[in-house]
Amino acid sequence: MHVIHRRGWELPEREATPENLFFSRRTLLAGAGAAAAAALIPGSAAAQRRADLPDPTASLYPVKRNAKFVLDRPITDETINTTYNNFYEFGSSKTISRAARALIIRPWTIKLDGLVDKPMEIGIDDLLKRMPLEERLYRHRCVEAWAMAVPWSGFPLAKLVELAKPLSSARYLQMQTFLDASVASGQRQVWYPWPYTEGLTLAEATNDLAFLVTGAYGKPLPKSMGAPLRLAVPWKYGFKSIKSIVRFSFTAERPRGFWERLQGSEYGFWANVNPEVPHPRWSQASESLLGTDERRPTQLFNGYGEYVAQLYKGLDGERLWV
Ligand code: MTE
Repeated sequence: MHVIHRRGWELPEREATPENLFFSRRTLLAGAGAAAAAALIPGSAAAQRRADLPDPTASLYPVKRNAKFVLDRPITDETINTTYNNFYEFGSSKTISRAARALIIRPWTIKLDGLVDKPMEIGIDDLLKRMPLEERLYRHRCVEAWAMAVPWSGFPLAKLVELAKPLSSARYLQMQTFLDASVASGQRQVWYPWPYTEGLTLAEATNDLAFLVTGAYGKPLPKSMGAPLRLAVPWKYGFKSIKSIVRFSFTAERPRGFWERLQGSEYGFWANVNPEVPHPRWSQASESLLGTDERRPTQLFNGYGEYVAQLYKGLDGERLWV
Protein backbone atom coordinates (compact mmCIF):
# COMPACT_ATOMS: atom_id res chain seq x y z
CA MET A 1 0.00 0.00 0.00
CA HIS A 2 1.39 3.34 -1.00
CA VAL A 3 0.58 5.82 1.73
CA ILE A 4 1.47 9.45 2.08
CA HIS A 5 2.80 9.90 5.56
CA ARG A 6 1.08 12.32 7.83
CA ARG A 7 2.79 15.66 7.78
CA GLY A 8 2.63 18.19 10.50
CA TRP A 9 -0.88 17.79 11.86
CA GLU A 10 0.51 17.79 15.35
CA LEU A 11 2.04 21.01 16.51
CA PRO A 12 4.21 21.91 19.42
CA GLU A 13 1.87 23.25 22.09
CA ARG A 14 3.46 26.69 22.01
CA GLU A 15 2.53 27.12 18.32
CA ALA A 16 -0.98 25.81 18.69
CA THR A 17 -2.50 27.94 21.40
CA PRO A 18 -1.59 31.20 23.08
CA GLU A 19 0.07 30.26 26.34
CA ASN A 20 -2.48 31.84 28.66
CA LEU A 21 -5.29 29.96 26.96
CA PHE A 22 -3.25 26.79 26.91
CA PHE A 23 -2.63 26.80 30.61
CA SER A 24 -6.12 27.78 31.62
CA ARG A 25 -7.50 25.05 29.39
CA ARG A 26 -5.01 22.57 30.81
CA THR A 27 -6.05 23.37 34.38
CA LEU A 28 -9.69 23.01 33.48
CA LEU A 29 -9.22 19.76 31.66
CA ALA A 30 -6.93 18.30 34.28
CA GLY A 31 -9.89 18.57 36.69
CA ALA A 32 -12.25 17.07 34.14
CA GLY A 33 -9.77 14.29 33.40
CA ALA A 34 -9.41 13.37 37.05
CA ALA A 35 -13.16 13.20 37.46
CA ALA A 36 -13.43 11.06 34.37
CA ALA A 37 -10.67 8.73 35.60
CA ALA A 38 -12.42 8.33 38.94
CA ALA A 39 -15.68 7.51 37.22
CA LEU A 40 -13.89 4.98 35.09
CA ILE A 41 -12.50 2.74 37.79
CA PRO A 42 -15.64 1.21 39.31
CA GLY A 43 -17.62 1.30 36.08
CA SER A 44 -14.98 0.30 33.58
CA ALA A 45 -16.13 -3.29 33.11
CA ALA A 46 -19.72 -2.12 32.67
CA ALA A 47 -18.60 0.59 30.23
CA GLN A 48 -16.65 -2.01 28.27
CA ARG A 49 -19.74 -4.21 28.10
CA ARG A 50 -21.81 -1.29 26.84
CA ALA A 51 -19.17 -0.49 24.24
CA ASP A 52 -19.18 -4.13 23.07
CA LEU A 53 -22.96 -4.34 22.53
CA PRO A 54 -23.84 -5.12 18.90
CA ASP A 55 -25.15 -2.19 16.88
CA PRO A 56 -28.96 -2.38 17.09
CA THR A 57 -29.39 -1.03 13.56
CA ALA A 58 -27.69 -3.96 11.80
CA SER A 59 -31.00 -5.15 10.28
CA LEU A 60 -31.52 -1.79 8.51
CA TYR A 61 -28.66 -2.47 6.07
CA PRO A 62 -27.92 -2.81 3.22
CA VAL A 63 -30.07 0.03 1.89
CA LYS A 64 -30.90 0.83 -1.71
CA ARG A 65 -28.12 2.48 -3.71
CA ASN A 66 -28.83 5.89 -5.25
CA ALA A 67 -27.66 5.38 -8.84
CA LYS A 68 -27.02 9.10 -9.36
CA PHE A 69 -23.63 9.01 -7.63
CA VAL A 70 -21.05 7.08 -9.62
CA LEU A 71 -17.35 6.57 -9.05
CA ASP A 72 -14.42 6.90 -11.46
CA ARG A 73 -12.36 4.40 -9.39
CA PRO A 74 -12.91 1.15 -7.54
CA ILE A 75 -14.39 1.16 -4.03
CA THR A 76 -11.55 1.10 -1.48
CA ASP A 77 -11.17 -2.21 0.27
CA GLU A 78 -13.31 -2.26 3.42
CA THR A 79 -10.46 -3.42 5.64
CA ILE A 80 -8.33 -0.45 4.61
CA ASN A 81 -11.14 2.02 5.10
CA THR A 82 -12.02 0.77 8.57
CA THR A 83 -8.43 0.52 9.85
CA TYR A 84 -6.67 3.53 8.30
CA ASN A 85 -8.36 6.51 9.91
CA ASN A 86 -8.04 10.04 11.14
CA PHE A 87 -9.94 10.22 14.43
CA TYR A 88 -7.82 12.32 16.78
CA GLU A 89 -10.14 11.63 19.72
CA PHE A 90 -8.51 8.19 19.79
CA GLY A 91 -4.96 9.20 18.88
CA SER A 92 -3.00 10.99 16.20
CA SER A 93 -1.84 7.87 14.33
CA LYS A 94 -3.88 6.21 11.59
CA THR A 95 -4.27 2.99 13.58
CA ILE A 96 -6.97 3.97 16.05
CA SER A 97 -9.61 1.39 15.12
CA ARG A 98 -8.94 -0.79 18.18
CA ALA A 99 -8.98 2.20 20.57
CA ALA A 100 -12.21 3.47 18.99
CA ARG A 101 -14.01 0.28 20.02
CA ALA A 102 -14.27 1.85 23.51
CA LEU A 103 -16.76 4.40 22.19
CA ILE A 104 -20.24 3.78 23.62
CA ILE A 105 -22.77 4.47 20.87
CA ARG A 106 -26.03 3.74 22.73
CA PRO A 107 -27.74 5.73 24.10
CA TRP A 108 -26.68 8.45 21.63
CA THR A 109 -28.57 11.69 21.91
CA ILE A 110 -28.34 14.41 19.29
CA LYS A 111 -29.13 18.04 20.06
CA LEU A 112 -30.58 20.44 17.50
CA ASP A 113 -30.29 23.97 18.84
CA GLY A 114 -29.29 27.59 18.27
CA LEU A 115 -31.39 29.62 15.83
CA VAL A 116 -34.20 27.10 15.43
CA ASP A 117 -37.93 27.18 15.88
CA LYS A 118 -37.74 24.91 18.92
CA PRO A 119 -34.52 23.30 20.24
CA MET A 120 -34.83 19.54 20.47
CA GLU A 121 -33.00 16.37 21.44
CA ILE A 122 -33.46 13.14 19.57
CA GLY A 123 -31.99 9.66 20.03
CA ILE A 124 -30.13 8.21 17.05
CA ASP A 125 -32.60 5.34 16.64
CA ASP A 126 -35.59 7.70 16.63
CA LEU A 127 -33.79 9.85 14.11
CA LEU A 128 -33.09 6.84 11.89
CA LYS A 129 -36.79 5.94 11.88
CA ARG A 130 -37.64 9.38 10.50
CA MET A 131 -34.98 9.58 7.82
CA PRO A 132 -34.96 8.06 4.31
CA LEU A 133 -31.84 5.85 4.18
CA GLU A 134 -29.98 5.31 0.91
CA GLU A 135 -26.51 4.26 -0.20
CA ARG A 136 -24.17 6.62 -2.06
CA LEU A 137 -20.75 5.93 -3.57
CA TYR A 138 -18.55 8.93 -2.77
CA ARG A 139 -14.92 9.83 -3.24
CA HIS A 140 -13.13 11.04 -0.11
CA ARG A 141 -10.07 13.32 -0.41
CA CYS A 142 -8.02 13.95 2.72
CA VAL A 143 -6.07 17.22 2.90
CA GLU A 144 -3.00 15.00 3.42
CA ALA A 145 -3.30 13.99 -0.29
CA TRP A 146 -4.63 10.45 0.04
CA ALA A 147 -8.01 9.39 -1.29
CA MET A 148 -10.54 6.62 -0.80
CA ALA A 149 -13.87 5.65 -2.34
CA VAL A 150 -16.61 4.66 0.08
CA PRO A 151 -20.10 3.14 -0.13
CA TRP A 152 -21.80 5.25 2.57
CA SER A 153 -25.33 4.69 3.86
CA GLY A 154 -27.25 7.57 5.36
CA PHE A 155 -29.58 10.43 4.51
CA PRO A 156 -29.27 13.97 3.12
CA LEU A 157 -28.20 16.55 5.70
CA ALA A 158 -30.97 18.71 4.19
CA LYS A 159 -33.51 16.34 5.79
CA LEU A 160 -32.11 17.01 9.25
CA VAL A 161 -32.13 20.76 8.57
CA GLU A 162 -35.80 20.39 7.63
CA LEU A 163 -36.49 18.61 10.94
CA ALA A 164 -34.70 21.34 12.92
CA LYS A 165 -36.61 24.22 11.26
CA PRO A 166 -33.92 26.93 11.40
CA LEU A 167 -35.04 30.55 11.78
CA SER A 168 -34.54 32.92 8.86
CA SER A 169 -31.66 34.53 10.79
CA ALA A 170 -29.63 31.28 10.69
CA ARG A 171 -26.83 31.33 8.10
CA TYR A 172 -24.50 28.56 9.29
CA LEU A 173 -24.65 25.09 10.76
CA GLN A 174 -22.07 24.06 13.35
CA MET A 175 -21.62 20.37 14.17
CA GLN A 176 -19.93 18.98 17.26
CA THR A 177 -18.39 15.60 18.15
CA PHE A 178 -18.90 13.89 21.56
CA LEU A 179 -16.66 14.91 24.45
CA ASP A 180 -15.68 12.09 26.80
CA ALA A 181 -12.03 11.80 27.74
CA SER A 182 -12.79 8.65 29.74
CA VAL A 183 -13.21 6.68 26.50
CA ALA A 184 -11.30 8.88 24.04
CA SER A 185 -7.72 9.18 25.24
CA GLY A 186 -6.89 11.78 22.57
CA GLN A 187 -9.22 14.17 24.36
CA ARG A 188 -6.79 14.16 27.27
CA GLN A 189 -4.29 15.89 24.95
CA VAL A 190 -5.17 19.34 26.12
CA TRP A 191 -3.40 21.27 23.38
CA TYR A 192 -6.19 20.31 20.97
CA PRO A 193 -9.35 22.48 21.05
CA TRP A 194 -11.84 19.73 21.98
CA PRO A 195 -14.58 18.99 21.24
CA TYR A 196 -14.05 18.63 17.47
CA THR A 197 -16.38 20.96 15.60
CA GLU A 198 -16.97 21.79 11.97
CA GLY A 199 -19.29 24.10 10.10
CA LEU A 200 -21.01 24.72 6.79
CA THR A 201 -23.10 27.53 5.38
CA LEU A 202 -26.79 26.62 5.31
CA ALA A 203 -26.61 26.67 1.50
CA GLU A 204 -23.83 24.06 1.66
CA ALA A 205 -25.66 22.01 4.28
CA THR A 206 -28.81 21.82 2.18
CA ASN A 207 -26.93 21.05 -1.03
CA ASP A 208 -27.82 17.69 -2.55
CA LEU A 209 -24.35 16.24 -1.87
CA ALA A 210 -24.11 16.93 1.88
CA PHE A 211 -24.83 13.55 3.43
CA LEU A 212 -25.19 12.33 7.01
CA VAL A 213 -23.69 8.88 7.27
CA THR A 214 -24.95 6.08 9.51
CA GLY A 215 -23.51 3.07 7.69
CA ALA A 216 -20.81 1.92 5.29
CA TYR A 217 -20.24 -1.19 3.16
CA GLY A 218 -23.85 -2.26 3.71
CA LYS A 219 -23.54 -2.32 7.52
CA PRO A 220 -23.82 0.06 10.46
CA LEU A 221 -20.94 2.53 10.51
CA PRO A 222 -17.80 1.20 12.26
CA LYS A 223 -16.71 3.23 15.27
CA SER A 224 -13.36 4.04 13.63
CA MET A 225 -15.26 5.79 10.83
CA GLY A 226 -17.35 7.92 13.17
CA ALA A 227 -20.34 5.90 14.41
CA PRO A 228 -23.15 6.37 14.90
CA LEU A 229 -23.48 9.58 12.83
CA ARG A 230 -20.91 11.43 10.71
CA LEU A 231 -20.86 13.86 7.83
CA ALA A 232 -19.70 13.29 4.24
CA VAL A 233 -19.07 16.44 2.17
CA PRO A 234 -17.00 14.95 -0.66
CA TRP A 235 -16.16 18.21 -2.46
CA LYS A 236 -14.26 19.41 0.60
CA TYR A 237 -11.09 18.15 2.24
CA GLY A 238 -11.78 15.25 4.59
CA PHE A 239 -11.34 17.18 7.83
CA LYS A 240 -14.70 18.88 7.19
CA SER A 241 -16.42 15.46 7.39
CA ILE A 242 -16.86 15.44 11.16
CA LYS A 243 -17.38 12.13 12.99
CA SER A 244 -19.56 10.90 15.88
CA ILE A 245 -21.77 14.01 15.94
CA VAL A 246 -23.83 14.89 19.03
CA ARG A 247 -24.93 18.42 18.25
CA PHE A 248 -26.12 20.58 15.36
CA SER A 249 -26.31 24.31 16.15
CA PHE A 250 -27.69 26.91 13.77
CA THR A 251 -25.87 30.24 13.99
CA ALA A 252 -25.66 33.68 12.44
CA GLU A 253 -21.87 33.82 12.91
CA ARG A 254 -19.46 31.71 10.90
CA PRO A 255 -18.28 28.85 13.13
CA ARG A 256 -14.58 28.01 13.45
CA GLY A 257 -13.71 24.35 13.11
CA PHE A 258 -11.26 22.25 15.12
CA TRP A 259 -8.37 22.54 12.66
CA GLU A 260 -9.05 26.20 11.93
CA ARG A 261 -8.88 26.94 15.66
CA LEU A 262 -5.68 24.93 15.95
CA GLN A 263 -3.89 26.25 12.85
CA GLY A 264 -5.94 28.83 10.95
CA SER A 265 -3.13 29.66 8.53
CA GLU A 266 -3.35 26.11 7.10
CA TYR A 267 -6.96 25.00 7.60
CA GLY A 268 -9.86 27.33 6.94
CA PHE A 269 -13.64 27.35 6.91
CA TRP A 270 -14.24 26.55 3.22
CA ALA A 271 -11.58 23.90 2.50
CA ASN A 272 -12.90 23.06 -0.98
CA VAL A 273 -10.66 20.68 -2.94
CA ASN A 274 -8.53 22.47 -5.56
CA PRO A 275 -5.45 20.91 -7.20
CA GLU A 276 -4.08 24.35 -8.07
CA VAL A 277 -3.95 25.72 -4.55
CA PRO A 278 -1.24 23.97 -2.54
CA HIS A 279 -1.42 23.45 1.17
CA PRO A 280 1.21 25.79 2.67
CA ARG A 281 3.48 22.76 3.17
CA TRP A 282 2.70 20.42 0.26
CA SER A 283 1.15 20.19 -3.20
CA GLN A 284 -2.51 19.24 -3.71
CA ALA A 285 -2.03 18.54 -7.44
CA SER A 286 -2.36 14.77 -7.11
CA GLU A 287 -3.55 12.14 -4.66
CA SER A 288 -2.66 8.55 -3.80
CA LEU A 289 -5.49 6.02 -3.92
CA LEU A 290 -5.22 4.02 -0.72
CA GLY A 291 -4.80 0.31 -1.26
CA THR A 292 -3.17 0.79 -4.67
CA ASP A 293 0.11 2.12 -6.08
CA GLU A 294 -1.83 4.64 -8.12
CA ARG A 295 -1.50 8.42 -8.02
CA ARG A 296 -4.11 10.46 -9.84
CA PRO A 297 -4.47 14.13 -10.65
CA THR A 298 -6.77 15.78 -8.13
CA GLN A 299 -9.94 17.33 -9.54
CA LEU A 300 -11.46 20.72 -8.73
CA PHE A 301 -14.13 20.23 -6.03
CA ASN A 302 -12.91 16.60 -6.00
CA GLY A 303 -14.87 16.15 -9.24
CA TYR A 304 -18.21 17.36 -7.78
CA GLY A 305 -18.25 20.83 -9.39
CA GLU A 306 -21.55 20.22 -11.21
CA TYR A 307 -23.28 20.00 -7.81
CA VAL A 308 -21.49 22.69 -5.84
CA ALA A 309 -19.61 25.23 -7.98
CA GLN A 310 -22.60 27.59 -7.97
CA LEU A 311 -22.45 27.84 -4.18
CA TYR A 312 -19.24 29.86 -4.43
CA LYS A 313 -20.20 32.40 -7.09
CA GLY A 314 -19.43 35.93 -5.96
CA LEU A 315 -17.22 34.82 -3.06
CA ASP A 316 -13.95 35.67 -4.80
CA GLY A 317 -12.52 37.49 -1.78
CA GLU A 318 -12.87 34.36 0.38
CA ARG A 319 -10.16 31.77 1.06
CA LEU A 320 -12.23 29.07 -0.64
CA TRP A 321 -9.52 26.45 -1.10
CA VAL A 322 -7.68 25.88 2.16
N1 MTE B 1 -13.88 13.94 13.01
C1 MTE B 1 -13.47 13.90 14.28
N2 MTE B 1 -14.37 14.03 15.25
N3 MTE B 1 -12.16 13.75 14.62
C2 MTE B 1 -11.19 13.66 13.66
O1 MTE B 1 -9.99 13.55 13.99
N4 MTE B 1 -10.67 13.65 11.26
C3 MTE B 1 -11.10 14.20 9.97
C4 MTE B 1 -12.50 13.70 9.59
N5 MTE B 1 -13.41 13.82 10.71
C5 MTE B 1 -11.58 13.71 12.29
C6 MTE B 1 -12.97 13.82 12.01
C7 MTE B 1 -10.17 13.88 8.89
S1 MTE B 1 -8.71 14.75 8.86
C8 MTE B 1 -10.48 12.98 7.91
S2 MTE B 1 -9.49 12.76 6.55
C9 MTE B 1 -11.67 12.11 8.01
O2 MTE B 1 -12.40 12.33 9.21
C10 MTE B 1 -11.22 10.66 7.97
O3 MTE B 1 -12.30 9.81 7.87
P1 MTE B 1 -12.02 8.22 7.79
O4 MTE B 1 -11.17 7.86 8.97
O5 MTE B 1 -13.38 7.58 7.84
O6 MTE B 1 -11.30 8.01 6.48
